[in-house]
Amino acid sequence: MKTIDQLDISAKKTFIRVDYNVPLKDGEVADDTRLRATLPTLRYALEKGAKLILASHLGRPKGQRVPELSLAPVARRLSSLLKREVKFAPDCVGEEVEALAESLKEGEILLLENLRFHPGETKNDPEFAKALARLAEVYINDAFAVCHRAHASVVGIVNHVEACGAGFLLAREVKYLSNLLEKPQKPVALVIGGAKVSTKVGVLRNLLPRIDKLVIGGAMANTFLVADGLEVGTSFYEQEFVEEAKEVLDAAEAKGVKVYLPVDVVVAKDQEAEEGKNVCIYEIPKEKAIFDIGKETRKLFAAALQGMGTIVWNGPLGLFENPAFAKGTTKVARAVAATNAVTIGGGGDTLRALKSAGVKRAFTYLSTGGGAFLEFLEGKELPGIAVLQQKA
Ligand code: 3PG
Repeated sequence: MKTIDQLDISAKKTFIRVDYNVPLKDGEVADDTRLRATLPTLRYALEKGAKLILASHLGRPKGQRVPELSLAPVARRLSSLLKREVKFAPDCVGEEVEALAESLKEGEILLLENLRFHPGETKNDPEFAKALARLAEVYINDAFAVCHRAHASVVGIVNHVEACGAGFLLAREVKYLSNLLEKPQKPVALVIGGAKVSTKVGVLRNLLPRIDKLVIGGAMANTFLVADGLEVGTSFYEQEFVEEAKEVLDAAEAKGVKVYLPVDVVVAKDQEAEEGKNVCIYEIPKEKAIFDIGKETRKLFAAALQGMGTIVWNGPLGLFENPAFAKGTTKVARAVAATNAVTIGGGGDTLRALKSAGVKRAFTYLSTGGGAFLEFLEGKELPGIAVLQQKA
């Protein structure tokens, strides 16, 4: 992949695909992490005197113009982050937008309206890709989080612009995740949580040969406990993935991967409960459900993660949104952050959980990707990255 610093962008209309798919609240950006993550690329391009045309999707408007999913609030926030004007285009293709792009001076920025207001974006429609390409002399992809989508602004457009490359964010994501898969600092531990085994099976299978320890928490641990023959009361678990969980445990054993499952848990009647009860995994009451890992498990997990070369984290270890069930995630996250390991986190919930544990900055690297992060770790080829590699 070429990177932005290997391309001549001075005075060029530089189309940068970013992922500003961010949460909005009361018409304003509620979390600007994804905006901040692109600032190094934007600042570099501005210094070089490029004319910046930024394009993103927001939500899933299904090819319709949905006013609540306008990128206008994003233009406002980006402008305050960059401390300069960010012009906002009423659409992302068409004559009016082309005229706006044409009128840009060096160092000016134009943010286009939501790409997914057009059905051609998600269909990777060649005509729509061409219409986007008409705005660009150089194409830069700095949107790792959407690279698993073969969409027009991610894939199709590359066929119609000669000079193409990756921004610094995309390059950094690829570097860290490739290192993790190909030459990680050893030994390696994977901390995996969240609700479902079903969404993590691909990651587990691909990473098992590469890791030394596997730490399992969150509701997905319940499915593993059931696979171990335990009763989990009214806890959520996936019956249809119990066999899969058994296979993962067997495969781990065969490969010499040490698996850590909860030895005690916090149970309550329901997820709104104001407090839970710490019980051993052999004493889970029939009418209660598991919402967090227990005290002993926190110590066990924290101790298991000492001395690792690399620790990868995906998925919270309990229902951290309720403070009564946040201790498991918080304590283990702090223990991880205090190690000397290369610490890598990814996934929307994971980032929120690490933020609420106050350790976001202590991690070596946090991916901006949700689905893209998981697919990369599954070993899948991401179309947005593949197309740039082919181009180079
Ligand atoms: C994400 O938030 O994971 C990306 O922006 C991709 O969004 P999508 O799942 O709607 O394609």
